[in-house]
Amino acid sequence: MLSRFIILAIPLVLILVPGDTQQHERRDLVWSGIGHIAGWAANFRPDVYKGKPVLRSWQSRLDLQHVRFYSEHFACLQLGGRRRLIRSNPSKYVILNQHYEVIKTVTAGRHRLGVVHQFRIVDGTTVLIETSIPRHECLARWGRKLEGQNWILSGGFQELDVETGRIVFEWQSLDHVNPSYSTIPLSEGLEGSGLSSLDAWNYFNINSVDKDDQGNYLVSARNYATIFKINGTSGAVIWQLGGFFNRSTFALGEHTFDAPDGILAPSQGNNQILPNSNAFVNWGQAGAITGFDCATCEVLFHAYLDSAPAGLGVESYRSFRFNWMGTPSEEPAVAAVQSGDQLKLYASWNEDTETTLWQFYEKPTTNVSDAPTAIFLGEVKRGGFETALHLSEEFVSNENSLVFAVAVGKGGITLGISRDVAIDVVPFSEWAVHSGQEQVVLTSQN
Ligand SMILES: *[C@@H]1O[C@H](CO)[C@@H](O)[C@H](O)[C@H]1NC(C)=O
Ligand SMILES: *[C@@H]1O[C@H](CO)[C@@H](O)[C@H](O)[C@H]1NC(C)=O
Ligand SMILES: *[C@@H]1O[C@H](CO)[C@@H](O)[C@H](O)[C@H]1NC(C)=O
Repeated sequence: MLSRFIILAIPLVLILVPGDTQQHERRDLVWSGIGHIAGWAANFRPDVYKGKPVLRSWQSRLDLQHVRFYSEHFACLQLGGRRRLIRSNPSKYVILNQHYEVIKTVTAGRHRLGVVHQFRIVDGTTVLIETSIPRHECLARWGRKLEGQNWILSGGFQELDVETGRIVFEWQSLDHVNPSYSTIPLSEGLEGSGLSSLDAWNYFNINSVDKDDQGNYLVSARNYATIFKINGTSGAVIWQLGGFFNRSTFALGEHTFDAPDGILAPSQGNNQILPNSNAFVNWGQAGAITGFDCATCEVLFHAYLDSAPAGLGVESYRSFRFNWMGTPSEEPAVAAVQSGDQLKLYASWNEDTETTLWQFYEKPTTNVSDAPTAIFLGEVKRGGFETALHLSEEFVSNENSLVFAVAVGKGGITLGISRDVAIDVVPFSEWAVHSGQEQVVLTSQN
């Protein structure tokens, strides 16, 4: 089964289960990454490291100059109308195993700042990351207008060996690509004033980097409207495609997709062609995702990352559809609430992708005998993130009895057992709050 999950990162990391591409389907949370990945997470997706399936993500804080997406040693924060400098941790690139444990943390070499735009594992051993740096240069030859405009952002990247942290290759655009032909000249001030290192002129802006099997690199530069092929030995440009001043345009594909509801994504976003040739589009800053049938351009599903159609600030740099199998190192969670002779049991297991059935058991607090004393209460097919079982028949619990839940996978295998918890006995007036079974995280629209 391919592309079983929609995998996306908003400031808190989420994996969502799409099921198939039916419209109006429920998409329930599988994993909340709070406590695993802090701050701003991006480029979060499954990958392969040393032959094993892993999850990888960039994590840092988002700086005020949104387009930069890297944390300086200090970041600006707008607080109560005043700009303040706060300390900030440098960007990190984390790799998690199938139990969601961080197994590797990569930081940029040579004290560079890691930027959000690229984090890719190459051949299961090295990573490509963006490491653009502000440089102090005389900008006169590239249209300097004002006194003090001395800062230019040199788009760059590093390939690093994950195990040792050794830099395999480093490239800086300013050594090879002339800023004169940027689509956003310094004089326009749209991509930095050049007056400070935080506001350096972002003439290049790397969006993605990849490596080919001959050891050369492909670099896509948004503010240069160009894709460059870079010699993996010398760093020289082998060829370039596009370029505003070459008056060339990229050939448009046969199909273009219209954004549902006319939404606009001023930044971020990506398009993934799936194994079945359909497309999965993430609308970046607009906070929405859409599945398209590439043959007909038909919208297969469309979902907002927030309940408000506008997305209201919820955005995802890149999102993907992939298969993924996660087996948490934590135990499942269980809760039991009783009112009169009614009992409701709840089970969930953050991160787990494999449970298909939940079984609930009751057992006495104290060991009555050495024989197994657990009483089977019932079982229910996995619902969404949380699965509930309502025992509406007369339920009489033993005083001080405990309950636990068993996660059952395909073929009846026991995947995990929760700890024993006491039954929370509540008056009927409070019972009502437990009667809802809201599990929907995303609402689909078409
Ligand atoms: C890359 O640079 C090296 C060293 O300058 C050179 O020997 C090689 O031919 C170049 N490769 C390409 C594809 O241009
Ligand atoms: C136009 O493209 C050619 C290569 O295709 C390159 O050598 C040249 O530098 C480009 N000119 C500009 C202004 O980008
Ligand atoms: C219950 O029995 C088990 C197995 O004999 C033992 O490990 C455990 O300590 C006992 N618990 C109590 C509360 O007596």
